[in-house]
Amino acid sequence: MSKRVAILISGGGSNMVRLVESMVGDHPARPCLVLANDPGAGGLAKASALGVPTAVVDHRLFGPDRAGFEAELTRVLVAHGADILCLAGFMRVLTEGFVTRWQGRMLNIHPSLLPKYRGLHTHARAIAAGEAEAGCTVHEVTAELDGGPVLGQARVPVLPGDTPETLAARVLDQEYRLYPMILRRFAHGQRGRADL
Ligand code: GRF
Repeated sequence: MSKRVAILISGGGSNMVRLVESMVGDHPARPCLVLANDPGAGGLAKASALGVPTAVVDHRLFGPDRAGFEAELTRVLVAHGADILCLAGFMRVLTEGFVTRWQGRMLNIHPSLLPKYRGLHTHARAIAAGEAEAGCTVHEVTAELDGGPVLGQARVPVLPGDTPETLAARVLDQEYRLYPMILRRFAHGQRGRADL
């Protein structure tokens, strides 16, 4: 039976669209839900247009109650029968309780060559450091921010004159290739690393 994949977003959801579009034919998984923490997330309309159920758990309604927010996330995810979670531009830090609940079943894409540049503003930091290469990483999510086992990476050159925006666009093209490839492998039960 195919695995059911929930994709968690906070924004435009362009990676989410690529993941949804990849889960066709003999792919071992199908999308069951796109879940946003922000009712204004642009990806929600894109998911609906692709025929994928959507839900919103607005973190602002929970104030400082992270456990309450995450309990509601889990309730919605379980209600949709999610087997695998893909974080795709999901901009909330998840606590250990949630991560443990879904450990071994949750992936994230991060726009750097981890372990370099965890956290935000990865492209500006890579340019400022004079890096010759940048890229993206798909990894399993653990309680350590951007710290779980790496499942795959794709590399791009940093070019003379690059701005964070031009570099981000070059990396994003690789994100669109890498994340679907790794999700497919992961849904097949393959946990070994595969780079592009
Ligand atoms: C991507 O760069 C992803 O790596 C990062 O946030 C961005 C999300 O973009 N975590 P989108 O919402 O998939 O368009």
